[in-house]
Amino acid sequence: MQRQAREREETWNSLTELRAQHTKLREECNKLAQERQRAEAAVREREVAWEGATKEQELTAEKLELDIVDLTTKVSDLNGVKERAEVAERLLEPYKKKTDEFAEAFAKEQVLRKRYHNQMQDMKGAIRVFARIRPQVAREAGDKVGVRKLDAFSMEVDDKRDVKQPAKNFNFDAIFDEHSTQEDVFADCRALVGSCVDGFNVTVFAYGQTGAGKTHTMYGSKDSPGLVPRAADELFEVVGRYSIDCQCRVICAMFELYRDELVDLLVTKTKGKPPPVLEVKKDSRGTVKVEGACEIEVHSPEELLKAIAVGQDRRHVASTKMNADSSRSHLIFIVTVEVTNNKTKQVSTGKLTLCDLAGSERLKKSEVTGEQLKEATSINKSLTALGDVIEALTKQAKHIPYRNHRLTQLLSDSLGGNAKTLMFVNCSPAFGNLEETGSALSYAARAKLIMNKVEKNSDSQEVARLKKVIQVMSNELEQARANSGSALPQLGDPEGNEEPDEPEEGGDEEEEEEDS
Ligand SMILES: Nc1ncnc2c1ncn2[C@@H]1O[C@H](COP(=O)(O)OP(=O)(O)O)[C@@H](O)[C@H]1O
Ligand SMILES: [Mg+2]
Repeated sequence: MQRQAREREETWNSLTELRAQHTKLREECNKLAQERQRAEAAVREREVAWEGATKEQELTAEKLELDIVDLTTKVSDLNGVKERAEVAERLLEPYKKKTDEFAEAFAKEQVLRKRYHNQMQDMKGAIRVFARIRPQVAREAGDKVGVRKLDAFSMEVDDKRDVKQPAKNFNFDAIFDEHSTQEDVFADCRALVGSCVDGFNVTVFAYGQTGAGKTHTMYGSKDSPGLVPRAADELFEVVGRYSIDCQCRVICAMFELYRDELVDLLVTKTKGKPPPVLEVKKDSRGTVKVEGACEIEVHSPEELLKAIAVGQDRRHVASTKMNADSSRSHLIFIVTVEVTNNKTKQVSTGKLTLCDLAGSERLKKSEVTGEQLKEATSINKSLTALGDVIEALTKQAKHIPYRNHRLTQLLSDSLGGNAKTLMFVNCSPAFGNLEETGSALSYAARAKLIMNKVEKNSDSQEVARLKKVIQVMSNELEQARANSGSALPQLGDPEGNEEPDEPEEGGDEEEEEEDS
């Protein structure tokens, strides 16, 4: 019995244990089933995502294929265009060459026209006027421009008050703009230096408001030398040629004219001794002499430039002492060339007068008083006197008012008579300076305008003579045209605005109406 009871207990115990194991196994089984479900869900999710990606790739591939087709079509189209462009370029080649030839021939023609025109002006004894528009300086970068060159002989100036008004035209003997170099400018003045050695009195002056480029044109800088240093080289070059059968002396003097006071810039000051008093006189031959002035003989361009540098230094020192601005005085440099023929002993004297004039700007009366007003009035007086002399000369008046001012007195043998005069009218391109630019150009244009009137009234003999000259020049031009092998416009064609035989000039006409 006891054994049976023990066996039953043992059986019961193992049954309980089996049950517990069974429960544990079932729980694990449930857990595995849940994990399996999760894994299956994740797989399904991935399958969906993969299907989506595949579809997208398929679509992209289709689009790329379409793009390839499209691009292939475009490439073949472009190939066609390229071929057509190449054909067109080949067809245009001869025309392009022709255009280049025309442009070159036109440039040559302009040079010839300018030269002939200048020769004509020389023969007529006219005052030549060159306008020069300077480039914008750094502080004006981006500012509005109101002055433009139109062609070799004409330029236009905007109306400051009303930009809708047509720009005003001016015609001069040459126009230089921001692209013109110092070399270009000198090329048109070089002949004047030779004339001086030939015994002519030559005057070159620069007119215009302060900052318009007068000093740059006349003197320039070390890197960009202006007319005076270039003239120095040219002068000695010509003198060198003359020296084969002549004795040449080159003498220079330099003055500053501030208000009515003439200052000798080359005189060496001795302590305690005042500089000699200067007096402007004329000798028996009509040559102007500044009595008491220091004259320096120079033998090379270097010596000439050294004399200029000395004069400029003294001017600088003097103006600093007086607290004056150099743009408010006239700077006059005079080179006299005496040529004595070794055989005949004949002496010819030529004079080259180079003036960097005081700024032509008109100070508003209300803004200046005292000394400044006196200074402005004095500059006005001198420039007006110069204008009056030019006007009287071009009118061929009997009385030329040289004595009205020391400036014109000093220049009296270098303006008119057998003298050759070149006036530079320097202009700022700035819109803000239009009023001053306009008035400077009108001052310059007046000289040419009056000349035109004179030409209209000239006697028939003179007209006939000038026509003959034109004929000779036309023939020469024809010859040049034949040599260059291109069909160039005729000398007096309507395209050209500067026909030497024509008494009227477009822009000047406008001036004429205004002034008359
Ligand atoms: N053609 C030009 N090319 C380059 N710079 C110029 C030119 N003309 C004038 N300038 C510059 O403009 C400024 C004023 O010119 P400047 O000759 O001193 O004028 P002005 O003597 O009339 O008062 C200077 O800085 C000068 O170097
Ligand atoms: Mg100056």
